[in-house]
Amino acid sequence: MKIIIGSDHGGFNYKNKIIDYLKSQNIEVEDEGTYSSDSCDYPVFAKKVAKIVAQANSDDVRGILICGTGIGMSITANKVKGIRAALCSDLFSAKATREHNNSNILCLGERVLDENLMLKIVEIWLDTPFSNEERHIRRIEMIEKD
Ligand code: RB5
Repeated sequence: MKIIIGSDHGGFNYKNKIIDYLKSQNIEVEDEGTYSSDSCDYPVFAKKVAKIVAQANSDDVRGILICGTGIGMSITANKVKGIRAALCSDLFSAKATREHNNSNILCLGERVLDENLMLKIVEIWLDTPFSNEERHIRRIEMIEKD
């Protein structure tokens, strides 16, 4: 699996911690910035990551986006066709959004989550496969329809 990761200044510290974690697990990671804690605009990074993940259109390429709350990242990423970005602050949601929504981007809030919980959310989201159940496939297909 390859992870495309991005943050604004509000998520910069957690981005670095997640990159360290992914590398320790031998998971390939592509860092799309931001590259410092200077103030910047979260939509720039959300769009960059979301477009790469949507274009890859593969279960093996997923994204992680971090900002202060995770909200701006999720709002922006979900505007890109083919993206199912899930803002998670608990383990149940992290697991359920993989099984039910086949989410391809995980959004996190650095100002919301304690570091240990944040890393556990990342771990469970990475490790949980999509259920492939008919009702979930049907509902995901409905997302893309007008
Ligand atoms: C930046 O101050 C903050 O607005 C941003 O990181 C994020 O929380 C937006 O949703």
